[in-house]
Amino acid sequence: MTVPTVSNESLMEEIVGLCKRRGFIFPSSEIYGGYNGFYDYGPLGVELRNNIKQAWWRDFVQRRDDIVGLDSSIIMHPKIWQASGHVDGFSDPLVDCKESRKRYRADQLFCAPVVLDAEPCGYVAYVEGADEASIIKQAKKLRDSLDKKQSKLDEGQLFGSAADFTEVSDAVREQTLGPDASKAGTLTAPRAFKLMFETKVGPLADESAIAYLRPETAQGIFANYKNVVDTGRVKIPFGIAQIGKAFRNEITPRNFIFRSREFEQMEIEYFIAPDADWPSLHREWLDQCIDWLVSIGLPRESITEDVHPQEKLAFYSQATTDLMFHFPHGEQELWGIACRSDYDLKQHQQHSGKSMEFFDEASKSKYVPHVIEPSLGVDRTLLAVLTAAYCEDEVPNDKGQAEQRTLLKFSPRIAPYKAAVFPLLKNKPELVERADALYRKLQKRWNVFYDASGAIGRRYRRQDEIGTPWCVTIDFDTIEKPGDTFTLRERDSMAQRRITQAELFAMLDAQVY
Ligand code: GAP
Repeated sequence: MTVPTVSNESLMEEIVGLCKRRGFIFPSSEIYGGYNGFYDYGPLGVELRNNIKQAWWRDFVQRRDDIVGLDSSIIMHPKIWQASGHVDGFSDPLVDCKESRKRYRADQLFCAPVVLDAEPCGYVAYVEGADEASIIKQAKKLRDSLDKKQSKLDEGQLFGSAADFTEVSDAVREQTLGPDASKAGTLTAPRAFKLMFETKVGPLADESAIAYLRPETAQGIFANYKNVVDTGRVKIPFGIAQIGKAFRNEITPRNFIFRSREFEQMEIEYFIAPDADWPSLHREWLDQCIDWLVSIGLPRESITEDVHPQEKLAFYSQATTDLMFHFPHGEQELWGIACRSDYDLKQHQQHSGKSMEFFDEASKSKYVPHVIEPSLGVDRTLLAVLTAAYCEDEVPNDKGQAEQRTLLKFSPRIAPYKAAVFPLLKNKPELVERADALYRKLQKRWNVFYDASGAIGRRYRRQDEIGTPWCVTIDFDTIEKPGDTFTLRERDSMAQRRITQAELFAMLDAQVY
């Protein structure tokens, strides 16, 4: 059973507001009223997103000897999706409300018992993340619809034993008041809703032209496994990594970029020998993935592990553990790390008629490798990074009065701008020239920002809000005193110190890796 989690709606609202205000993320097609489940990344968002992808690619591909990269096409032969099982099986359980015409994902819809004057009287359904007050309101609505306005509602019972809608019986369903309904019994039984987007390829508009937008990047890796083995001089164990767009016609795209219909994945298929010690390798992968999340700024304590129970695993799967993160809408999956046996390669071997066997020089044996699959969403990582970085504190303004400050405590690895350069005054050519020269020099290596307008305190706040770790001010000491130093101001502590150009470059080199 999925467990309902607690949400922090105001934090999500703050993050969404900041993303819009400062140009990180916009609703897609906003001038036409938006398009549910699709988002656009603005000037700062695209930098943050690229930095996340680059950090992942550096650490998991370029800095390892055992993983190579791939970029496969989004639309592939439809037989790939038949072999992988997606055409027949890639669906979510959907529940319709016959009254409100709203649709819900059954595993995100919870059903709680309503007890009036110690008598069970029915159930209310609520969507994951709903707050207690709205669930109580819904229970009272059921009470009123049963003409029992005077009865006392037992609130304790309401929150004691919620079950998700994939598990409720028809009898319970018929007595359940839906989240947007006025009377009980309007919710349908869950039915499978296909998640793959279909398109047509070529001039014919018939069934034979149907193709799919990929719902995961993983199958592109399996489909190219043979090409990489034949050309890449790889030895087992080895991995193939891919970053790319994926598309799913989600029933309920929700929680900003957490669940959208177009998103990006960073996936690895790590091929191992069938007799390898997969539980130890799985554990190693979990630890490496946690370390990576910490390296881009997620606090270690905000990451937990959700081990899928054996009875819920697909028949071919040996183990799956999700790394969970405490998002504003509750603790949810961020990174899935699965041991998928040799299922996918064997399926492709069977459907394509091409051998997927690997000849292992070391053991002089031939086999279809097994696989460990760490699969991470770029957008979900970005939301986790924003959640961990978002912070408000109080600082004195230029007049010494306390003022609220909003800041994003991004790790320098992924911050959109690594530093901002300011001349203390914009009407002093000698300050402006020196600031411009430093800015141009830094710009050759890193993404940096130049700002000459407004009071220095205001300029610092603007950078704090977009997560720039350091501001460098060219002031009178720079031009009048020996040593050629600037003022370096640190975002989180707001501490200031003097620094030389060589020290500044060395610090950025060490921190932006
Ligand atoms: N190849 C395995 C696979 O695709 P998944 O659990 O369906 O597994 C992997 O997806 C990861 O992709 C998730 O952990 C999540 O980070 C991301 N993801 C999945 N669906 C998403 C969606 N609709 N919107 C944003 N990210 C999504």
